[in-house]
Amino acid sequence: MLVPDRYETDALVASGLSNEADGDILDLALNINPFGPPPGSVRAAASTLSHVHEYPPVDATELRRAVAKWHGVASECLSFGCGLDEVIKLLVHAWTNPGDRVLVHVPTFPRYELELRAHGAHLVFVTSPTPWETDCSAIGKTLRARRVTTAFLCTPNNPTAARIDIGSVEELASEFPHVQFIVDEAMIYPTQQGAVPLVGRFSNMAVLRTFSKYFGLAGLRIGYVVADPARISLVETIRPPFNVSQVGIAAAVAALEEDQDFLRESHDAIAAELEFVVSSLRSMMPSWVLHHGESNMIMVETPGVSSTAMAGELLRRGVRVVDGRTFRGLETTDSLRVSLGDRTANSRFLGALAQAWSVLRERVEEVP
Ligand SMILES: Cc1ncc(COP(=O)(O)O)c(C=O)c1O
Repeated sequence: MLVPDRYETDALVASGLSNEADGDILDLALNINPFGPPPGSVRAAASTLSHVHEYPPVDATELRRAVAKWHGVASECLSFGCGLDEVIKLLVHAWTNPGDRVLVHVPTFPRYELELRAHGAHLVFVTSPTPWETDCSAIGKTLRARRVTTAFLCTPNNPTAARIDIGSVEELASEFPHVQFIVDEAMIYPTQQGAVPLVGRFSNMAVLRTFSKYFGLAGLRIGYVVADPARISLVETIRPPFNVSQVGIAAAVAALEEDQDFLRESHDAIAAELEFVVSSLRSMMPSWVLHHGESNMIMVETPGVSSTAMAGELLRRGVRVVDGRTFRGLETTDSLRVSLGDRTANSRFLGALAQAWSVLRERVEEVP
């Protein structure tokens, strides 16, 4: 039995936060689509309810077909899970052995570390000269120096929003054919190809995607991996047979096949909210540094202001964000990870931030 340390929970839990319905709390900690689920998915999910006395298909047949078509890959290249959280667990069990050295570039999504530690892997952490970039040359240098079997990369990276250039991923896959690369694209806009085309060219390349973010189906818990069929068959061997529900399958298929307008509209609306929040923050807090990409999340560096105190003050005002210090690699940096909401939610966040800042500024000014 492994003894958990603070990184064996994800950043949310490490912050002492939970996502349970909690009065009038505005939750900007989970990077979901703030515009709700796609309407066609809701209809499709509802239509399956009269069949839920039956088990879902073991191989998520319809979903497998729809996702294979979406990416233009063979259906044997796919394995599904109860969210990417489960997929990550399955990959760690299927593709790594206890004692393997596994590279993780930090700061990043904490589940990789949690699952790897629980499986007895040795973690090889790589950092970049600045935590706000993912430095593939530092990764290459480590892979040349250390015997590593697997490497986790995240792009856009949670929590920094940093993107990895696909050319650099390709160079890594080609230079290190004995390393299994797992590229987590949970936060990517789903119509972007990302690293998926590399899967057909490199048998050591796997790409992770989820229906939890832009697709607006976090509550139905569906994630998947795209990889070489031989590697997928190792995952399928240990995958629990009914790990994706028929409600989830129906909703996800509808999201791919019927609800592309919703996806586009969400994308445009999220981009507009990003612009609104970024320009508001720039005028409110000119010394703060904002890191963001296309995803539904901003990382806000708050130099001179304790992000732990700021997250606490925001929570006192009913707004939940994540204190960046809870991420490995950001322990000494003040920063807040803020998910975008709709305009009402974002305005509430900015109002709470102004109030929190006025309290904290007084405290800073009181220090002799
Ligand atoms: C980078 C990354 N990977 C995986 C996940 C897990 O996603 P899922 O909801 O599919 O379990 C998240 C969720 O926030 C994430 O940010």
